[in-house]
Amino acid sequence: MTYLIYARKYRPKTFEEMIGQKPVVQTLQNAIKNNRVAQAYIFSGMRGVGKTTAARILAKALNCQLGPTPTPCNKCELCKAISEDRSVDVLEIDGASNRGIDEVRSLREGVKYKPIHSRYKVIIIDEVHMLTTPAFNALLKTLEEPPPHTVFIFATTEFHKVPATIKSRCQHFEFKKISQKEIINHLVDITQREKIKISSSGLNLIAEAADGSLRDAQSLLDKAVAFSGEVINDEDLKEILGTISKDLLFAFSKIILEEKPDEVFPLVEKVIESGYDLRFFYKELVQHFRNLLLVKSAKNPQDLLPLNEEDMNDLKEEAKKASEEELLRYLVALQQGEPGLKFSSHPRIYLEVFVVKLSHFKKITPLKDVVQELEDIKKELKSPSEKEFSKNTFQKEKVLEEKVLEEKAPEVSNQKINETIPNKFEEDKGKREREIETAMKDPSVQSFMDKFKAQVLSIKPIKKAEDDKNKLPFDLGRKK
Ligand SMILES: Nc1ncnc2c1ncn2[C@@H]1O[C@H](COP(=O)(O)OP(=O)(O)O)[C@@H](O)[C@H]1O
Ligand SMILES: [Mg+2]
Ligand SMILES: [Zn+2]
Repeated sequence: MTYLIYARKYRPKTFEEMIGQKPVVQTLQNAIKNNRVAQAYIFSGMRGVGKTTAARILAKALNCQLGPTPTPCNKCELCKAISEDRSVDVLEIDGASNRGIDEVRSLREGVKYKPIHSRYKVIIIDEVHMLTTPAFNALLKTLEEPPPHTVFIFATTEFHKVPATIKSRCQHFEFKKISQKEIINHLVDITQREKIKISSSGLNLIAEAADGSLRDAQSLLDKAVAFSGEVINDEDLKEILGTISKDLLFAFSKIILEEKPDEVFPLVEKVIESGYDLRFFYKELVQHFRNLLLVKSAKNPQDLLPLNEEDMNDLKEEAKKASEEELLRYLVALQQGEPGLKFSSHPRIYLEVFVVKLSHFKKITPLKDVVQELEDIKKELKSPSEKEFSKNTFQKEKVLEEKVLEEKAPEVSNQKINETIPNKFEEDKGKREREIETAMKDPSVQSFMDKFKAQVLSIKPIKKAEDDKNKLPFDLGRKK
């Protein structure tokens, strides 16, 4: 028996077998039942969500010997011919490779004649947005005087590229991404039938990589079976799916470098859903930041990182979002956070809080301020007018503190203004302060600063600086 890829083997033959796409399926079935089938449809949606599949089922529904029927029999000669791709009345054209006017002209010639064996001619044009303008115009003529007994189905992954003149003559159905859960259920079904052994975290990995495309999920499973045989272990899968973790890592560096703490929680959820071990993931994240720093600072990063050009460019682009110093700070903080994650009894919460902090990093201690502070200390050491120094530093820190507070927690800073008026903010004050403390206080920054002062500038943290450090600006929660 020849080997059939899963996408072919498990292609639905009836509307009922289709996964997801309920509104589309229901509307099409009703249209057939009520004899209100349109002359032209646009099926839009990402790849592998059932557009072509639905188009073929519709062709069968219209032409089945027992039909037109919303439930084609799949047994009659007409149904079989369509399933096996040999019906002369159901034409499938790839718009990407038949883009020109000539193809559309000959199509127009073709549709002049009545269907030979069937009730309807069904013309399916895939990737219709790829047609050239003259081809579109020719197509438009056909749609303006639609030949009887002909149904057009245009499929596209880029609906916005289809000219409005075409759109306005078609009924549009938007095919949605297939949910993670539906993909997993489908994969479970296939693996049971095919007697494939795979863990549920393995299935999660595939479903996550497929990102809404059922066909992609099937192809990944194909790949995994080709790689591992019938017993697929998670390590093999991770190897096969190497590219997903890359996407996920970039998603993390994005929220950190673009300072988007609100996106942390869903993203950590995604890591967990994908079945990644958090510590394993964290290691990769550290490695990712190391790579970002490397491409930012090394003269010839390609000599040090064995990556293809595309991956290298992606890294370089990403590294543009931060300065070299900033990347260094992220990397140091990440490294220092690693043992904490290892020993935390709630690694998920640890990771969430940690990444939220990182995404505030740029705001909390802009490096130029830190350097300025160090400059001040240096000057102070030369001219020890201690009082002046502490007044200045305190003033500066207060201004910085208020700025950060305003940006990060507007209600809290309002509360400060209204301090004398007792109101409901007061009740929550302690709670909010604790929240801010958790989000803002970062021991790794403090210890990094110590090292920075001690090593880089060869200054021992003096007693005074030590005390100040315990106040501000990293320790906003502990104020008065
Ligand atoms: N909604 C769906 N329900 C069931 N199977 C699907 C669905 N979408 C995709 N598939 C699977 O993926 C394969 C390719 O789907 P296809 O209809 O060609 O996707 P599209 O045309 O949207 O790119 C099908 O043969 C089928 O196995
Ligand atoms: Mg298709
Ligand atoms: Zn039939």
